[in-house]
Amino acid sequence: MIAVRRVAALLVAGLGLAAAAAAQTAYPIFTPDHLDATMKTLGPNVAGVHAAIRAGDMTLAKERAIRSREQLATTITFWRDRGRDDAVRILRVTLRAFDTLDTALSQTPADPAAVDAANGTVGGGCTACHAIYRQGEDGDYRLNEAALR
Ligand code: HEC
Repeated sequence: MIAVRRVAALLVAGLGLAAAAAAQTAYPIFTPDHLDATMKTLGPNVAGVHAAIRAGDMTLAKERAIRSREQLATTITFWRDRGRDDAVRILRVTLRAFDTLDTALSQTPADPAAVDAANGTVGGGCTACHAIYRQGEDGDYRLNEAALR
């Protein structure tokens, strides 16, 4: 009986995955709302990286940096769909900077200068893209539609 239930549970889980995959192929578009939502979680995550570094918890900093990198990486679709090669380039530099940060945080003990430098490059990537493609101010940031034309 337990075995039957387990199989049934696996089947249900399998169906759920198939449905999720189908939904993904049906809606492959990365909308401005997706970008907004991703950025809204990326901001606190990157702030969390800095907070963990200040607290000396390099393991937590690394986990948050990896999570941030993953989140930022998903946004590449947005820029590709719109043919924004410059944004794709900035994004790639920023992702590479996250890799460098990951490496720096993985050393024991971590070299503060290397961590700082990598953080600086990450931040430079955020700023470079925001300067072109983001408008508004704190609490009311939006996509700069004009820059997409
Ligand atoms: C390739 C372009 C690009 C890169 C790189 C980028 N962003 Fe953004 N970001 C945007 C755009 C465009 C917006 C405005 C979208 C919106 O808020 O609707 C934005 C908005 C934001 C917002 C405001 C969200 C809101 O509406 O409150 C935060 C926070 C943010 N980004 C953090 C980051 C951080 C941190 C990094 C670097 C680790 C980063 N971004 C890298 C393009 C980028």
